[in-house]
Amino acid sequence: MDVQGHVVVLSSPNHLVSTLALIAVAGLIWAVFRDRGITTNISGQQLLGGWGYSTQIDVSRRTFLASLEAKSHHLSAVSSFIRRYGGPLFGVTSTHQVIYQKEGIERFLSQPLHTLGNEPVAWTIHVRVFGSEDDPALRQKTSVARKELSAAVEKVYMSDRPASECIEEANIPRHAYSLVTLSASDSLTAWESLAQYRLLVSETKDQPGAAELNLFNLIRSFGAAISIPMLYGSDYMKRNPNVLRDFWAFDNDCFPLVMAGVPLWAPLKHFQEGLAARARINRGLAEFFERLDKHLRGEDLDPTLDLTDVSQIVMERNEIFNKYDFKYRDRGDHDAALLWGQNGNMQPSTSWLIIYIYATPGLLASLRQEIAPHVSISTADNDYSHPYITRLDMNGLQKHCPLLRSTWLETFRVANEPSSLRYIAKPLQVTPESATLQPGTFVTVPHAIHQHDPSLYPDPDRFIPDRFVRVDAATGERRAPYGPLKPWGGGHGICKGRVFAEKHIFAVVASIVSLWDFEPASGGEWKVPGMRPGTGIMRPTEEVRVVARRRRYVE
Ligand code: HEM
Repeated sequence: MDVQGHVVVLSSPNHLVSTLALIAVAGLIWAVFRDRGITTNISGQQLLGGWGYSTQIDVSRRTFLASLEAKSHHLSAVSSFIRRYGGPLFGVTSTHQVIYQKEGIERFLSQPLHTLGNEPVAWTIHVRVFGSEDDPALRQKTSVARKELSAAVEKVYMSDRPASECIEEANIPRHAYSLVTLSASDSLTAWESLAQYRLLVSETKDQPGAAELNLFNLIRSFGAAISIPMLYGSDYMKRNPNVLRDFWAFDNDCFPLVMAGVPLWAPLKHFQEGLAARARINRGLAEFFERLDKHLRGEDLDPTLDLTDVSQIVMERNEIFNKYDFKYRDRGDHDAALLWGQNGNMQPSTSWLIIYIYATPGLLASLRQEIAPHVSISTADNDYSHPYITRLDMNGLQKHCPLLRSTWLETFRVANEPSSLRYIAKPLQVTPESATLQPGTFVTVPHAIHQHDPSLYPDPDRFIPDRFVRVDAATGERRAPYGPLKPWGGGHGICKGRVFAEKHIFAVVASIVSLWDFEPASGGEWKVPGMRPGTGIMRPTEEVRVVARRRRYVE
């Protein structure tokens, strides 16, 4: 290992949907070595922090470097285990630099793609994580089509009006009304089944119902159940009833390990189940594209097929797939990545946001007050007099709710681990003083490492909901700008779903907060669970069991 200015040169890998590779490798190393003394003086999270990913530790530069040095002699041993593709990408012994300084990073990441690219990284992830065939002809075709496939997403998910229209069409408030089934007779929704639902009190006209669930799982699956059909339509959901279960099995038990290069034959039960889940997701998407394509050609005679609500994004991607003659299997593999990009970060971050809102004393009440002018509630025409939402003013929520916005950013700060992974195609420096990065190598910019920097965020280990709120001295207007936070990465590879993601999260959270009460199932104080690295967003170390009841509006 060598340390040059602010560039720590070590060996290793990573990206696409990006925050992940180093996490995966580090996570694997941690998993392999945590019981063997490698982390005797640093916790597992510190180990990840040392690799540039954890937001949980106060990493001063000295500790950061010291922890790397302390570990470096273990890297070669691990590398032979992790290495698979022969190329430099994920081999721990190959050149990969982690840039942990802030200065010059924006300019660095804005380099044109022919200088600072992501194609080799994206392809490796496509093969390794999303299970594509590693075929040179397919790689070439993918490289040509990538820009158009991405543009189909950006056109909708990166533009204010089209993204808002998607959210409106999905009618999130209506779904939020049915977040929890409070009746024994109804069959459970997919999100309830995945949240280990237990009915406590059946809802009747005179008696409020109550049910116990795992809040983290409930919210992430609820969000995914809304967003996935926003891409592929409701017919896809009906024909793939286990897609949510498979998605989390893949995300939790398979993604980090395939990313780290664990061989597919590794006899690990959860890993094998995760791989099987991935295969079902990819197959389901391949079959979807086959149905869609045949239907559009007038070849599909299935009278039950209803593709009327398939999104513009997916229709356009299908055209692009046709243009370049992608096989259905390859379309499925491509869209497995899109499906993950859409949900892998968005849903768990919504879960954390909800947990913090309910668990932080006083915050729920303040937020309810702040969002009230933008959420219209009624109990009219409703047999049970339950509150439901008649109007959600997205513009108001996004522009005039600084506390909601700040709480969201603070949640990102503590629970998100964004990074940017790039391929160096031409010699490049981060600043004129720093070492020249050589073509053919890789860099990771672990934005998360700054999220616990006390000079940027005083008292960094505390969750402070209004930390991002700023008051304009002249007008008194309160706003919550990002400041130095980079939850979406940066440069050309910056997140292509961020406009949509913000709206989706705000709509889900405002709807749930307006309609539901949760309290700890144990009956005691709220306790925010510990965090461990995930695939971008942290995962809870324990379940958050809560009792859910409809919110009561006092007339
Ligand atoms: C809370 C939600 C989300 C977070 C925190 C998030 C975060 C990120 C980050 C950190 C990156 C890597 C950026 C870089 O390399 O510099 C990324 C890339 C990407 N994200 Fe998101 N994302 C979110 C939601 C979404 C959604 C809803 C979509 C919709 C499909 C999406 C699509 C993508 C795509 C396509 C890329 C790859 C961009 C490229 O390589 O050009 N993301 N995201």
